[in-house]
Amino acid sequence: MEFSTRLQQLPKQFFATLVQKVGAAVAEGRDVINLGQGNPDQPTPPHIIKAMQEAVINPQTHKYSPFRGLPKFKEAIAEFYAREYGVEIDTDTEVAILFGTKIGVVELPLAIMNPGDSMLLPDPGYPDYWSGVALADVKFDTLPLLAENNFLPDYTTVSDEVKARAKLMYLNYPNNPTGAVANLSFFDETVQFAKDHDIAVMHDFAYGAIGFDSEKPVSFLQAEGAKDVGVELYTLSKTYNMAGWRVGFAVGNAKLIEALNLVQDHLFVSLFPAVQEAGIAALSSSQDCVTELVAMYESRRNALKVACDRIGWAVTAPKGSFFAWLPVPKGYTSETFADLLLEQADVAVAAGNGFGEYGEGYVRVGLLVDEDRLHEAITRISKLNLF
Ligand SMILES: Cc1ncc(COP(=O)(O)O)c(C=O)c1O
Repeated sequence: MEFSTRLQQLPKQFFATLVQKVGAAVAEGRDVINLGQGNPDQPTPPHIIKAMQEAVINPQTHKYSPFRGLPKFKEAIAEFYAREYGVEIDTDTEVAILFGTKIGVVELPLAIMNPGDSMLLPDPGYPDYWSGVALADVKFDTLPLLAENNFLPDYTTVSDEVKARAKLMYLNYPNNPTGAVANLSFFDETVQFAKDHDIAVMHDFAYGAIGFDSEKPVSFLQAEGAKDVGVELYTLSKTYNMAGWRVGFAVGNAKLIEALNLVQDHLFVSLFPAVQEAGIAALSSSQDCVTELVAMYESRRNALKVACDRIGWAVTAPKGSFFAWLPVPKGYTSETFADLLLEQADVAVAAGNGFGEYGEGYVRVGLLVDEDRLHEAITRISKLNLF
C-alpha cells in the first residue's frame, strides 16, 4: 500500500536522528548530558496533580466533554488573560481549547488555507510548523531571524511578491530556538504589517511565562488591533511542567477561533474533563510555582553563561524561553559540531540547521538539567580546546 502524497511530503523528523544517536550512546553505557531536547525536567506542581486526582474519581468527568470544552475552563482562560496581560477574551467566541499547541499549529493552515496557498514562517523556527504546511498542502516563505535584528523579522526586507501571496504568518516569542523576546512595539508593527497585506497572524506564546531579568514577556494580544488580525496559542506544557498532559488553547480573533473549533469538531470531542479541571487549577491558583520555575531557569541560564565565559566561548545569554542559542566555533557546521560534542564530550545539543537554513552556525542548548550538569557539560567541552 502506498502512503498518500500528503504523508509522503511530510518533512523528515530531523531530531529523530538526534534521539537515535543519544539512545545509542546511552546504550553503550556512556553518561550523556542531554541538552538537545525541549522536555521540561521538573514535575507538575502538586496542587495541579491533586486537582486531577479529585476530578478523576468524579464519574461526571468520565463522560464526553462538551465538544468545544468545559465553559468553566474557558472562563479560567479568560480570567488568566485578563489578570496576566490585561486582555479581555470573550469565552463564547474567542477561545479554542487544544490538545497542546502542537495540534493548533498544524490545524490552522488546514482551517484557513487552500492547497497551493502560501504562508510565512520564521527561520529558524519550531520544526512542527512545517508539518502543518505539508498536511494542508500549502507553500511557505521564510522570515529570516538574524542576530543583528535581535532575532526579530525585518518586515522591510519582505518582497512585494511574498507579501502579496502570504495568507498566514507564524511568530513565536520568547523564541524557540533563539531565546529572543519581542516587545510591544514589534507586535504593533506586526499588526500594521498584517493589516497592510491582509495576512492572518498566529503568535505562538509557548514560552510566554519564561522571561528573564524581571522582564515579563508581552502577549501579542496586548498590541492594539491584534485581535483584528490574529490569535495567540498558549500551552500549559512549559508554564506548569504539564507537557505530557496535552493541554493548551488559542485565544483571539473570533473568525480564526471558529475555524479552529470547526476543524476540531470533526476530529475530537475535546479534552478529558479531568485534564480540563487540572487546567483550571493551574491557571486560577497562586502563580508562585511559575515564579519559582522561572527563577530556576534564570539561575541555570546564568550558570551556563558564566561557564561559557570561563572557557572563552562568546555567547549571548537568552532573554526568555528555556533555550540558549550558541554559535559554533570556526571550522565547524552546526551538525559537525553537534556530532563532535556527542562523540568526544558525551554532550548532546540540537544542531541549529534542524530549525531552518538560518539556524546554520548555531546549536541549541536546553536549560533542562541542573546547574551541576550544565557546569559539567561545559567543562567537558572545554577539554576539546576549541575556544
Ligand atoms: C515553539 C513551540 N511551540 C509549540 C510547542 C508545542 O507545545 P505543546 O504541544 O506541548 O503545547 C512547543 C514545544 O516544544 C514549542 O517549542
